[in-house]
Amino acid sequence: MTDQQFPIEKVEDSNTSNNPHFNELLASRVSRRSVLRGGVGMTAAMMFGSAGLVGCGSDDEAVAATPAPTPVTPNPLALPKELTFKPVVHHTLDKAVVAEGYEMSILTPVGTPLFSGLEEWDAAKTESVDPSGVTMEQRVGDNHDGLWFFGMKDRKHDVSVSDRGLIALNHEFTNSFALHTDFANVADTTDASLWYKKQREASHVRREINAHGVTIMEVVRKAGSSNFELVKNSSFNRRITAATVMDIAGPVKGTALVQTKFDPAGNTSRGTLNNCGSNPSPWGTYLTAEENFHAYFGRNESTLLTTDEAKALNRFGMVVGWTGWAGSGKGSVAAIKWDNYVDADGKKQAGALNNYLWFTPNHVLQTNNDEFRRWDITASAASAKQDYRNEANTFGYIVEIDPFDASSKPVKRTAMGRYAHETATYAPVKVGEPVVFYMGDDSRGEYIYKFVSKALWDAKDATGGLKAGDKYLNEGTMYAAKFNADGTGEWLELSLNNPKIKADPMFKSLAEVCVYTRLAADVAGATRMDRPEWTAVSPVNGEVYVALTNNNAARGGFGVGADAANPRVPNANGHVIRFAEKDGKHKGLSFAWDVYVFGSPNDKEATHNLSGLTKDNDFSSPDGIGFDPRGMLWIQTDDGAYTGTTNCMLLAALPGKVGDGAKVKVGAIDTPMGAKPTAKNLVRFFVGPVGCEITGLSWTADMKSMFIAVQHPGGEDLQSRDQVKGFWPATQSDPEAKTMPRSALVVITRKDGGVIAG
Ligand code: FEO
Ligand code: CA
Ligand code: CA
Repeated sequence: MTDQQFPIEKVEDSNTSNNPHFNELLASRVSRRSVLRGGVGMTAAMMFGSAGLVGCGSDDEAVAATPAPTPVTPNPLALPKELTFKPVVHHTLDKAVVAEGYEMSILTPVGTPLFSGLEEWDAAKTESVDPSGVTMEQRVGDNHDGLWFFGMKDRKHDVSVSDRGLIALNHEFTNSFALHTDFANVADTTDASLWYKKQREASHVRREINAHGVTIMEVVRKAGSSNFELVKNSSFNRRITAATVMDIAGPVKGTALVQTKFDPAGNTSRGTLNNCGSNPSPWGTYLTAEENFHAYFGRNESTLLTTDEAKALNRFGMVVGWTGWAGSGKGSVAAIKWDNYVDADGKKQAGALNNYLWFTPNHVLQTNNDEFRRWDITASAASAKQDYRNEANTFGYIVEIDPFDASSKPVKRTAMGRYAHETATYAPVKVGEPVVFYMGDDSRGEYIYKFVSKALWDAKDATGGLKAGDKYLNEGTMYAAKFNADGTGEWLELSLNNPKIKADPMFKSLAEVCVYTRLAADVAGATRMDRPEWTAVSPVNGEVYVALTNNNAARGGFGVGADAANPRVPNANGHVIRFAEKDGKHKGLSFAWDVYVFGSPNDKEATHNLSGLTKDNDFSSPDGIGFDPRGMLWIQTDDGAYTGTTNCMLLAALPGKVGDGAKVKVGAIDTPMGAKPTAKNLVRFFVGPVGCEITGLSWTADMKSMFIAVQHPGGEDLQSRDQVKGFWPATQSDPEAKTMPRSALVVITRKDGGVIAG
């Protein structure tokens, strides 16, 4: 989302060395000893900072770096010393452009059938291609976002395999104007007893529910190429939607906070929503993040809610009337305006917040129990077990999915907290140490979090699937980050062990801390940030990077004040902050930080273009970020501030480390800033088609194929088909094409078959 504008002031890997079997991969390329001796450019930190070296070798071995003969086969995981591809220039074309020497192909646009027997998607006749919205459950969903490629051999996960695998892919929201031929078909209700007055088409809502969630699909390399195609009818192919039954696990399971009419025991829930960032776990599962879950619910005023319940709903953006974004769209029904919403200050407001209005179709038409009614979270019955007042408490989590077990239920990992989750990115795992995940809450002024598992890492769990998830993700400690002006920071515990939280009557148990996480972090005194997006952990040195996408405080006035970690107000172009845990201990309580890079147009004054970006590497609104297994950082943008000059993009970077720069004056504030990027270590690699954002990133083990997602090409926040600014991906091959734009994956390969950015 480019810029969430919430009605309430306070509302709102890549440790891509994710590679649990890094050692196996390396062994298949070059002998381990030659790698350890530095012959192919690996550093000791890279080796031992990665998950794969768990339980093998000692640091002493790695330190003994003496030159070794150049291996016969180039090591795909050697980190280049500098970036040598030619920068892609700014453009605003309705076309994606990748660096010279590379090519790209388009994979699985929205609506692609996962099984035979379904008609190809055709936006011109959605109601006949997808009658009643039910076939969308067997098609690739909308607005591709976070993704991961899991190599596969003999139907099992094998990270060393590049030519076949499963892709897990998030679908964040819907471009509803393109999903239905008659999106504007919204009637007045005829039932005067309802508190809402509009009524959407049941088929539209069902199609949207099914276009959300996650796709699991098998892909295979085309013969003689590094390109991929979908394996239709694979038994792994499946859709997880906003209606799929899931398990609730961790401290919230079985508590009154998640009791619903659907499951009065509070052990299960239906659906995952607004799936944004993602990453794998160290044990081979997929961790998908539920971001802006609030915009799907509506609620009427009710005297049945407790004060705490009402406070929490407001803090999470779910004000009375309906919930969602002020202003324009996000694929929701912005055209519908109601005049009765009550803002966080209790004032009646006229105007429009945007909402999907999934609770409005005629309930008589529901095909299963409360298919639509469950999105109405009004407290209306005598008990929470008889209505859906708690339905929104079942969203906002990290959800774990085992792509290799198509019969397994997704699991809501409530111990990792509830907020507008971006990626959960694990730090390099070490035997005998807890597993640590870094996470952001993407809304203005929200926080950066980490989760430290109670269980200590056992290398045997590297292929453990959801059982390992149960072991590491159901018990642990949450922390929120506090950034001090002097370049240090600390982690504030979010539990009843924290006296401030214990003293607050809102929190009677850990379950409440896990459901009302934002409120707990408020009480703890965490630092409000400029919209924390994806997190990434360097496999080279273990430092943690967080994209702070922007904070347009000028609009709406909900911005945080300037501080050293968020020094630009408004912050139209965002920045990437990074931190080094003290003594490299990810479970520790203190860190050192600086700003790796400030986004800016290159022609802005030096007081704004603080990192000295040039036309070859300038960018705005960093969003998706991730380290590839070599330790190269990739930065993706989701921008609205610089799009007059350039479409959203993907850049490659070779960052240094915390403290390699100096303090910089930003207005009256001193901010620690890293060394300015150069033309050799930050370069634009790809620029997408007009109207899109670039998001999601993964690679094959041989680094010869890179997957990214092009989300909402043609424009975001659109309400009708005549508003589209482009028609990608059809325009990639036919500039005159006029079919509706579709989110899609892009597979990038090198024309000479070589390693990406190698
Ligand atoms: Fe869905 Fe915060 O990006
Ligand atoms: Ca976005
Ligand atoms: Ca994002």
